[in-house]
Amino acid sequence: MASLTLDGVQALLKHLNLEGTVSFSTIADIQSNPLDIYQANLAEILVQLTNCEPQSAYDSILLPNDLGDLTVVLPRLRLQDVDLEKLAGDLRQKFPSSPLFASPIPDGIHLRVLFSPVTLARLLIPYIRDRGALYGRSQLGDVSEDRASPRAQQKVVVEFSSPNVGKEFDGNHLRSTFIGAYIAALYQFMGWDVCRMTFLGDWGRHIGLLAVGWSRFGSEELLKKDPLRHLLDVFAQVNNLLRNEQEEAKNLPAQGQENVVEHATISTEKDEFFKRMEDGDPDALVLWRMFREACVTSYTDLYGRLNIKFDDYSGESEVNAKTITDVEDMLKENDAYRESDGAWVIDFEKHGYKGHRTAIARFSNGTTSYLLRDIAAVLERYEKYSFDKMIYVVSAKQDTHFHQVFNALELMGLAELASKLQHVSFGKLQGLSPKTDSGGLLLGDILDQCHNAVEEFLEDNPEDFAELREEVSTSNLADALVATGLMTQELSIKRGGTFTYDTAKMATMDGDTGLTLQYWLTKLDSKLKGVRIVSEELDNADYSIFTDESFYDVLRLLIQFPGIVKSSFKNFEASIILTYLFQLANTLEAVLGEDDEAESSNLNLAKLAFFECVRYTLSNGMQMVGLVPLRGEAEVRSAAIPSLETRAMTD
Ligand code: ARG
Repeated sequence: MASLTLDGVQALLKHLNLEGTVSFSTIADIQSNPLDIYQANLAEILVQLTNCEPQSAYDSILLPNDLGDLTVVLPRLRLQDVDLEKLAGDLRQKFPSSPLFASPIPDGIHLRVLFSPVTLARLLIPYIRDRGALYGRSQLGDVSEDRASPRAQQKVVVEFSSPNVGKEFDGNHLRSTFIGAYIAALYQFMGWDVCRMTFLGDWGRHIGLLAVGWSRFGSEELLKKDPLRHLLDVFAQVNNLLRNEQEEAKNLPAQGQENVVEHATISTEKDEFFKRMEDGDPDALVLWRMFREACVTSYTDLYGRLNIKFDDYSGESEVNAKTITDVEDMLKENDAYRESDGAWVIDFEKHGYKGHRTAIARFSNGTTSYLLRDIAAVLERYEKYSFDKMIYVVSAKQDTHFHQVFNALELMGLAELASKLQHVSFGKLQGLSPKTDSGGLLLGDILDQCHNAVEEFLEDNPEDFAELREEVSTSNLADALVATGLMTQELSIKRGGTFTYDTAKMATMDGDTGLTLQYWLTKLDSKLKGVRIVSEELDNADYSIFTDESFYDVLRLLIQFPGIVKSSFKNFEASIILTYLFQLANTLEAVLGEDDEAESSNLNLAKLAFFECVRYTLSNGMQMVGLVPLRGEAEVRSAAIPSLETRAMTD
C-alpha cells in the first residue's frame, strides 16, 4: 500500500476483502489510525441497525478498560424512547456477520465488541509494516486540525532547560530539560518543523553580582578547566559576601543607617556593573561574553550526553535595546505603561486584568526587568522564526510571569501573537542532593551520579544486555543508558506531580524503567537479526497463532498506539506514552519465547512480521518521548562518544 494515503489503506482493505466496510473517512482517521477502521465500520453497522446519526454512532464507541476490544455506550446513540438494555440484546441478534468482528456481547446499557483475531492480524501487521518508523504519527499532527484541508509544515519553537550563567542547575532546569525534549521530539515525530531553544539566563543583576565576584575570586585558568564549576564557586563566594553585608546593614543601629550605602559595596557594585552592561560598556561586555561562551560550550557537551541538541542558545542578553523600546512604545500607545517612583510599570489593573495589578518593566536606575526582556524576546523570535506555536517549558513557579508576558502582548495589541504562545508548566522535584559542598549541583554532577548507578547495575548483572557486551565496554554501555534511565524516570510521572529523583531505582530493570524498555528492544533486535520479509510472501503466511491469547493481547495493544500518541500530544503528558510502552513490554515475555524449530516457515513468517511491528511501535514510542533506542553496536557507540569526550574535557 502506498504510504500514508487513503488509497493505500483502501487497497489494503480490498486486498483483505474488506472493501466497502468503511465510508466514514471524514470522521475517521483511517490513514493514521487502524483502530478507526474498526470504529468506522462499527459505526456504520450501528447506523444501519438503529438509524442513529453517524456522528453519534461514532461517538458512542469507546476503548473499554477491561472487557472487549470496543464498547458501544448505547445512551450515546441518542435514540428517543428506547429501552437500552433491550436494544443491547437486539443488536446482538441482528449484528451482521462481519470479517472484522466476532459476535458482540450485551452488557447492561453497553455492547461489548470483540475483534476477530485473524483478520486483526492480517490487517494490522501489513498496516504497521507499511507505516514503519512513522507508525503513530497522525496525518497532520494537530488533533484540532481539519483533516480535509492539510496545511504546509508548521513551525514550533520549544524553549526548555534554560539554566542561568553562574548558578546551579536545579530541579526545575532538570525537569524542564526532559519535558521539553519530549515535547520537541513529539512535535518532530508529528511532522512539525521544530526549533529547540534554550534561554540562557545571562543578563540581569545576577550577572552584575557574578562580575563583582570575578574581580575578587575569578581565575582564567580555573574557568578554562571547569567553567561551570568555577563560575558557580565565584558566585557562591560573592553571594556570601553580599549576604553578610545585608546582615550587617540590618544590625546597624538606627543612627548608623545613613552609612549603609557607603558600606554596601557589593550591592552597589553589582547594580553599577549591570548598568554598564545595559549601557553597552565594552569592558563589561567582554567579561559578560567570556562567561556566556564558557557556559554555552560546556552545556553543549552536557546536553550531548542526554542526546539533546539545541538549535538556538538564545540569551536574555540577545534581546535588542531597540526592540525593548518598541515594546515600551506600544505599551504607552495603548495606555498600559506608567511611571511609578522613578520606575516604569505595566498597568494591567487599569485594563481589567485580574490577578496582577502592575509589574515592573524598567527599574528606577534605567535597567530592564526579566519581564520586559521576555516580552521583547517574543517579538524577536517571531521575527526570526515566524512560528505557528511557541512553547515555554518552565516550572509552575513562573506561572505569573508567563501570564504577565502573554497579557502584556495583548495590551500591546498583539493578541494573535499571544495566542500562539503556551506555557507548559510542571511541579516540584525532590531527591537531588549536591555531591560536594562546593556551592551547588551542576548538570554534570547529576549525569555522573546516574552513570555510576547504571555502571554498578551492569556490573552486578552481567547477563543483561549480553548482546551488546561483546561490542562495548560496560562504561560505554552505561553512558548510553544514562539518558534513557533518567528521562524515563522523569517522564513516567505526570507533569503536574512531584518528581522524585532516585538513581538507585532508575538504574534497574525491576519494573517499569527505561532500562527495561531498552532491554526488550535489544531482545526484539536479536530475534529479528538478518530477517528480511517480502510483503508478498506475507499474504500466504499462517496467521493462526493470533488466536492464542498472549499474541492477541499484544495485537490489541499495537492497534491502540496512534490513539495513545494523540492523547499524549493533546495533553503534553509523556506518561501516557510511557505507561503504554511499559504495558507493551510486559506482554512480551509471553510471546518472545525460544524459537520452536519445528514451526512451519509460514507460521514463522507471520510471527517475525509481528515482531517487526512490536519493534516499530516500541522504538517509535521511545523516540517520540525523546529516548534514543539502543540498536546494536553502532548506535551504542555514537550515543556514548559525546559523553566520553565531555569526560575527557571536564575531568
Ligand atoms: N532561566 C530561568 C530560570 O532559571 C528560566 C527561563 C525561562 N524562560 C523564559 N523565557 N523566561 O528561572
